[in-house]
Amino acid sequence: MLSGIQPTADSFHLGNYLGALRQWVAMQETHQTFYCVVDLHAITVRHDPAALRRRTKIAAAQLLAMGVDPERATLFVQSQVPEHAELGWILGCLTGFGEAGRMTQFKDKSAKQGTAGTTVGLFTYPVLQAADILLYTPGPGEGAAGRVLRVPVGEDQRQHLELTRTLAQRFNQRFGETFAIPEAYIPEGAAKITDLQEPTAKMSKSASSPQGIIDVLEEPGPMRKKIMRAVTDTGTEVRYDEENKAGITNLLRIYSALSGTAVPELEQRYAGSGYGQFKKDLAQLVVDTFTPIRERTHKLLADEDRLDRILADGAARAREAAERTMEVVRDRVGFVGRD
Ligand code: TYM
Repeated sequence: MLSGIQPTADSFHLGNYLGALRQWVAMQETHQTFYCVVDLHAITVRHDPAALRRRTKIAAAQLLAMGVDPERATLFVQSQVPEHAELGWILGCLTGFGEAGRMTQFKDKSAKQGTAGTTVGLFTYPVLQAADILLYTPGPGEGAAGRVLRVPVGEDQRQHLELTRTLAQRFNQRFGETFAIPEAYIPEGAAKITDLQEPTAKMSKSASSPQGIIDVLEEPGPMRKKIMRAVTDTGTEVRYDEENKAGITNLLRIYSALSGTAVPELEQRYAGSGYGQFKKDLAQLVVDTFTPIRERTHKLLADEDRLDRILADGAARAREAAERTMEVVRDRVGFVGRD
């Protein structure tokens, strides 16, 4: 199993946590897992080098603080495993220009960047993502296509996963069986957490207002305020209704995912009590979930040597797996052998 996250902010947000990261922690119990902080992806838009370095460390610390266990999972930074860029190049040579141009995230991001800010890297971003995933094919080579390779992600990554599957199949057909065909693992209920101020838009690092996002590392005060001020409709009924009550529906999803209580049970619990009590309880739940993660993150960041050692060890293990795949890939593609 493989998944990745970009180090593009000083904290992950609630959408990242519920859509993906919680599953990362759970799946290390049952799968061989590779978790990657994708710094190569983070430079597809203009960036500040010092901020990237800081955010990469914060990202790794948060993942450990959430429960990623470096004994069981391989946690690493993408740029420390050069095979990602190498396979990215090869897969790029199998990707149609039109095919890459149809990616909706590229269309959205390039519209935001404008022509001058839209880089070739942004265009080939999903191809590099395909490389991230396929490098960790269990048992690359003959029989690989039948093996299971799961990718826990939120709904917004579905199209990139489809492209990855297409590229894996295309490579296998053209050059002989090499890659497993990956499967997206998208959580029901929490696949798309929306913005607290704009409940029909995805909660996102690039949101127009910070009031709409809950950061994992945020202090309890602002966290509570944001939830209490979350946009809801003018009614009073705590009821799941995507079309007419997008704000309350989003909060119900968050509540349900964090507490493990089914939505109908929550609707019943808050019948007649209005939005105030519901929001107050949800705020407490969010604070209780993230306070220990914030505290552990700060502790981990205080011991940078240890963090660097964990990442170096993760990169060494990831390279071993990535090299196994690349040996097959280079041979299949027709590159002359290396000693
Ligand atoms: P990124 O860094 O934007 O987000 C990391 C993960 O968080 C999920 N997510 C959400 N889930 C639910 N609701 C939301 N509002 C929300 N916002 C974000 C994302 O779906 C993702 O799972 N392209 C990827 C990074 C990547 C990757 C990979 C992922 C690079 N290589 C290989 C999986 C496998 C991205 O930008 O995620």
